Amino acid sequence: MGLYADTYRRSLEDPEGFWAEAAEDVVWQKRWDRVLDNDNEPFTRWFVGGKLNTCYNAVDRHVDEGRGAQAAVIYDSPVTDTIITISYAALRDQVAAFAGVLLKYGVGYGDRVIIYMPMIPETVIAMLACARIGAVHSVVFGGFAANELAKRIEDATPKLVVSASCGIEPGRVVVYKPLLDGAIEASAHKPDTCIIVQRPMLEAPLIEGRDVEWTAAHTDSTPSDCVEVDANDPVYILYTSGTTGVPKGVVRPTGGHLVALKWSMKNIYGVDPGEVYWAASDVGWVVGHSYIVYAPLFQGCTTILYEGKPVGTPDAGAFWRVIAQHKVSCMFTAPTAMRAIKKEDPQGKLLAQYDMSHFNSQFLAGERCDPDTLHWTEKMLKVPVIDHWWQTETGWPIASNCIGIECLAIKPGSPTAAVPGWRIEVLDPECNPVTVGEIGAISIRLPLPPGALPTLWRNDDRFVESYMAAYPGYYQTGDAGVIDKEGYLHVMSRTDDIINVAGHRLSTGGMEQVLASHQDVAECAVLGVADALKGQVPLGFLVLKDGVNRPDAEIVADVVRMVRQEIGPVASFRQAAVVKRLPKTRSGKILRGIIQSIADCQDYQMPATIDDPVILDEIAATLKALGYAGG
Ligand code: COA
Ligand code: AMP
Repeated sequence: MGLYADTYRRSLEDPEGFWAEAAEDVVWQKRWDRVLDNDNEPFTRWFVGGKLNTCYNAVDRHVDEGRGAQAAVIYDSPVTDTIITISYAALRDQVAAFAGVLLKYGVGYGDRVIIYMPMIPETVIAMLACARIGAVHSVVFGGFAANELAKRIEDATPKLVVSASCGIEPGRVVVYKPLLDGAIEASAHKPDTCIIVQRPMLEAPLIEGRDVEWTAAHTDSTPSDCVEVDANDPVYILYTSGTTGVPKGVVRPTGGHLVALKWSMKNIYGVDPGEVYWAASDVGWVVGHSYIVYAPLFQGCTTILYEGKPVGTPDAGAFWRVIAQHKVSCMFTAPTAMRAIKKEDPQGKLLAQYDMSHFNSQFLAGERCDPDTLHWTEKMLKVPVIDHWWQTETGWPIASNCIGIECLAIKPGSPTAAVPGWRIEVLDPECNPVTVGEIGAISIRLPLPPGALPTLWRNDDRFVESYMAAYPGYYQTGDAGVIDKEGYLHVMSRTDDIINVAGHRLSTGGMEQVLASHQDVAECAVLGVADALKGQVPLGFLVLKDGVNRPDAEIVADVVRMVRQEIGPVASFRQAAVVKRLPKTRSGKILRGIIQSIADCQDYQMPATIDDPVILDEIAATLKALGYAGG
């Protein structure tokens, strides 16, 4: 039996032994009493009774163990022309100082702190400072609008918000402060304090009595040490798109998160302490939490905090410049980024300028990696290119080629096989395993391994209903796919309304709610259509109320603006069409899947229950006019 197969089998046959062994790699203030408590499934708890601190394991332990002078974080920001290296010792001091600031402003153990920030060092410092004092952070991606931020403030009820005056996108400054003020105004919950990093490109006006500037906030505060927290205390809440406009607050348990992430660095990514690891994502997403901040620091690596894009900052050689300059050995990004680079530099002329001799592996996730992108990336980089599959909920990869254990043969279009700890099964609607090679709902047999979500923030019912009810005894991933006869997993599509735009997860249901709120719209549908760069982009269909006689183009422009204002620019909602009717079943269900198949020129089966098949011809004509459906 190969090493991977052997490790995988061990992880399932003896999960308690397997994860107890992995937990030895973490510094505990008190060891656990029980490795696994699954008495109240699906509310699984790992390392019950254990006490530890996330920040200690990410920062202080490395100083204590002699890595104080090593770079912990390299902030590389082509958009501001800045590179700053922060050693582990300096990071400890800055985090301890900000932890003291949080305490000064009344934030304590268990309190929530919202972090609405661009990709700057203060973001990482704020996250670690929360963990240091046992406060629970919730980072909100900067590309979300005030309304989305408001929903998160209302649900997490933070005592304090950390934000910045602005973010920098190529060609524009994203003014954060009005978004923050708008969100607080819209939210029923009001934080006591907002700490604002004033960036030199734009000073934000501060509200007296509530807002305080980052440096000024440090006055009269005392650096704080790491406190002891329970292994099952939440280290953070991260909101993700659900099937409605209301985001789900995924809870991350402290102990399981630490153990699983540390284990993943060596076993999945094959990365040792001291190496330079780079996840080119944003700290607002789970990839950023797990693989920009926590896992590389748990492992004693140097992590890169990159404030830039794959192209345009300044060119399609930006990623290769960072890899060469900082001697990155392992990188992680979304396939979209590779497609963007390929589009501008298909021959890799810019790549040829850089010394890539330290570079060992390229990981991709966030969306399906199409074989063309995989082949191109392999041809360019000449290192293993590993597609791996996971979700905000799981916090770390479910399926991957675990190159730190054994590099298996790469199969394009597949993230290889289950990572140790995850029992993946493909089920039919009756909860039976499908025949090998058949498509079904990709599900994980309970209990989930350490690090996965134990519940949703203050919403056990929604946790059960969203993930655990459809397939009793399993976690429903929301993805559909196949396990082939060689045991390789293929993740094909979502089973719900979630779409993946440039590796960003978005709910079409949430966008439909915005469209439906337009005064002239009677009915609407939003679906994801294939896009050569972003994988998918949203496309809206509008049916207008009787008697509306404004030009269609005006109404389309309205809804495009509304989605940008209410969800944010990240939704990339740029196209909509006015139609007379939407295709529906006789019971009134809109056939979004069929519209999507027509747009993507894919075969589909005409449902027997369709109300009026002629509508599909009208929809196809509209799609052609928009440049889809072979138009
Ligand atoms: N704050 C504010 N606005 C943001 C933002 C942020 N942090 N991130 C993105 N936006 C805005 C962009 O400026 C853009 O606005 P625009 O409509 O005014 O142009 C919009 O949101 C869409 O952004 P994006 O999806 O990034 O598209 P793009 O056309 O600007 O860039 C790529 C395309 C491929 C270069 C870009 O999507 C990319 O770098 N993808 C990598 C994917 C990735 O990191 N995924 C994370 C999961 S691993
Ligand atoms: P998020 O929670 O934002 O990380 O998005 C998770 C979703 O992105 C998954 O449920 C999948 O639909 C999709 N996804 C992530 N990685 C992959 C991958 N490697 N292949 C296919 N889909 C992926």
